[in-house]
Amino acid sequence: MTFDLKVTDPNSKARAGKLTTDHGVIETPIFMPVGTVATVKGVHQRDLKAEINPDIILGNTYHLYLRPQTDVLEKAGGIHKFMNWDRNILTDSGGYQVYSLSANRKIKEEGVKFKSHIDGSYHTFTPENVMEIQRSIGADIIMAFDECTPYPCDYRYAKRSMHMTHRWLDRCINHLEKTPLKYGYDQAFFPIVQGSTYKDLRQQSAEYIANAGAVGNAIGGLSVGEPAEEMYGMTEVVTAILPEDKPRYLMGVGTPINILENIALGVDMFDCVMPTRNARNGMLFTAHGSINIKNLKWREDFSPIDEMGITFVDTEYSKAYLRHLFSVNELLGKQIATIHNLGFYMWLVREARKHILAGDFTTWKNKMVKQMDNRL
Ligand code: GUN
Repeated sequence: MTFDLKVTDPNSKARAGKLTTDHGVIETPIFMPVGTVATVKGVHQRDLKAEINPDIILGNTYHLYLRPQTDVLEKAGGIHKFMNWDRNILTDSGGYQVYSLSANRKIKEEGVKFKSHIDGSYHTFTPENVMEIQRSIGADIIMAFDECTPYPCDYRYAKRSMHMTHRWLDRCINHLEKTPLKYGYDQAFFPIVQGSTYKDLRQQSAEYIANAGAVGNAIGGLSVGEPAEEMYGMTEVVTAILPEDKPRYLMGVGTPINILENIALGVDMFDCVMPTRNARNGMLFTAHGSINIKNLKWREDFSPIDEMGITFVDTEYSKAYLRHLFSVNELLGKQIATIHNLGFYMWLVREARKHILAGDFTTWKNKMVKQMDNRL
């Protein structure tokens, strides 16, 4: 994987870059739609490409390990062939899902024993087997196995957990070197900064992660309930330390405003379930704020979903029709809303890139943040 930094914004730490892997080019800043179980929920791969056009999507080790399981993915020839997606894929390591989804998890130095949220069966993730599982899944970018601390988190726990994440990182790197690639294309490995909301821990962790010398770096443990200002403070501390010439990925973030603010702090890559999950609940993101399409207010509003017309659904369907689909709980409503939201998120990061390249990112960002901080 290579990363070319094209332009840095003169008035912020925003950057525009270009990541190249064996599955193609990723222009940064980028938003990666979440496709947890090898599907971006409700969107055909054909529509995903034609309408939303992401350079990269995300999958989850935790889910794919449980279902369809790695033997199926191996027999298919890897996740790209299995799901018919020939562009980039990133897999998260399970270092988040194991804490947020499974019951009865036990975290020890060796790894995490957890109970499946599907059938209650017991499994263990270690830094070693998570590297092997991610080799079998076959994403282009694979993540270190870490512990994502909750918010709030007391200092002593955060410190102990951060050191364990660092030791786990060393074990990931050692094991990865011994685990051959399975499908003939390369996999880039990203370590993850932790340290909760403590500045000194974040600094220490960012230094440790930077020293690992990976091709890209991630920031974890944020957007877990802390106020946005606290998140921005931590991002700022970390991006000041992580190497300039490597991509930086802020995991699980966030709202359109969070994304723009973090781009301004030097983040290049984002993922979040928000545009897809909230779409399924009838929440639409637009350049002028968010909409709850289920509200009575839209009952007789026959105007297009979004005048901007980023994707076909925005102009082919009205707000009243989409509201109706939600009120009768039709599948198509969720699909339309998902395509709209992902189209909007992709538009937002592409506009951000354009403005970074044009040199007026900060002015544009401040205007957009003000404009989007609104409920329609
Ligand atoms: N997704 C969101 N936050 C995190 C994190 O801290 N670690 C991992 N592995 N995934 C995440």
